[in-house]
Amino acid sequence: MHTELFGTINGRDVIKYTFGSKEMRVSVLDYGAALQSLVVDGVDVVLGYSRGEEYAVRGGYLGAYVGRAANRIKDAVFTLNGAAYSLTKNEGENHLHGGKRGFSHHFYAAEKLENGVKLRAVSPDGDEGYPGTMTHSVTYLAEGRTLRILFEACSDRDTVWSPTCHAYFNLNGEVGNAVNNYLTLFADRYTPTDAALIPLGTTESVENTVFDFRTRRPIENGGAAHGEYDINFILSGSHAATLEGDISGLCMDIYTDLPCMQLYTAFQDMNSAPGKRRSYGVKEGIALEAQYAPNAVNMDGFAKPILPAGVHGKHYITYSFR
Ligand code: GLA
Repeated sequence: MHTELFGTINGRDVIKYTFGSKEMRVSVLDYGAALQSLVVDGVDVVLGYSRGEEYAVRGGYLGAYVGRAANRIKDAVFTLNGAAYSLTKNEGENHLHGGKRGFSHHFYAAEKLENGVKLRAVSPDGDEGYPGTMTHSVTYLAEGRTLRILFEACSDRDTVWSPTCHAYFNLNGEVGNAVNNYLTLFADRYTPTDAALIPLGTTESVENTVFDFRTRRPIENGGAAHGEYDINFILSGSHAATLEGDISGLCMDIYTDLPCMQLYTAFQDMNSAPGKRRSYGVKEGIALEAQYAPNAVNMDGFAKPILPAGVHGKHYITYSFR
C-alpha cells in the first residue's frame, strides 16, 4: 500500500491510496471515495483528475462514489411510510446524484486492508433531505485483474439508498475519444425519459433501436447522434456489460447485483478539466453506472432502493479484466 498527499480541500489533506499488483494498480482518494486511477497491463482505463482539489469544484463525478441515491429523483421529492421528503434540487427542479454535497463530496475515514481500502462515513439525519442517520462505506479490493467494490449501509430509520461508482472508462487508456470502444450491454429493455432525463415510468425493448448493445459493437455506430448516450437500461443478470478497447484489445467485464445501468458517454463538455495525462474534452470516457432505475423510489413496477431501518444493506460492482 502506497499513500500520498494528493491536494487540500477546505484545509484538509486529500490522501491517495494505491494498491494492487503488477498487473493491476488501483488508486482511490479519501475525498469522494473516488477511483482516481486503474492501471491494467500498463493502461490507465479510467478518467481522473491530476489533483485532489479538482474533485471538489468540478461537476463530472469522475470515479466518484455516488449516494445516497445515484441518478435523478423527480421534483426532488419522495414519499416513504406516508411521509413526504424534500431533497436538495441540484439539477433544475430535480435531485441528481445525492444532491449538492452528496457522497461524492465528502471526506472518508480510510482503513487500509491487505489489498484494498475501506472508506467509511456517517451521513446525518436530514442529509440533503434524506431521513435517518446512516453509517455507510465503500470498500475497494484488488484481486489479480479484478477490482471488487462493496457498498454497505445501515440507517436508524427507513431511507433511500442507491449507491454507484461513477467511473468513466476508456479501455485504450487516457487518449481522448472513447466512443469507439466496443460495448456489449446485457439488457433487453431501457427506460425512455422526458427531456430532463426522468424516466416516463415505462420500459421499451431495445430491439431495432439505437439502444441495442446486446451484440458487441462500437458505441457510436448505432445510429445515436455521434454516440451521445445518457440512458438507463434494465439489466438481464449479474453480468451487466463488457467494454473492450478498440485499439488496446483490453476487455473489462462488469458484474453487479444492482438491477440497472446508466450509459453516459460524457458528451457534456468537461471544459479542459486537468486529467492525469491530458485535458479532457467531450466523449473521453464511458460511464457505466450500475444503479437502481432513476426515480425508482417514485415509480411502480421497478425495484425500489429502500433500505429498512436496522438492516445492513450491501451491493457490489466488480470490474474484471482480460
Ligand atoms: C450521469 C447522468 C448524467 C450526468 C452524469 C454526471 O451519467 O445520467 O446526466 O449527470 O451522471 O455528469
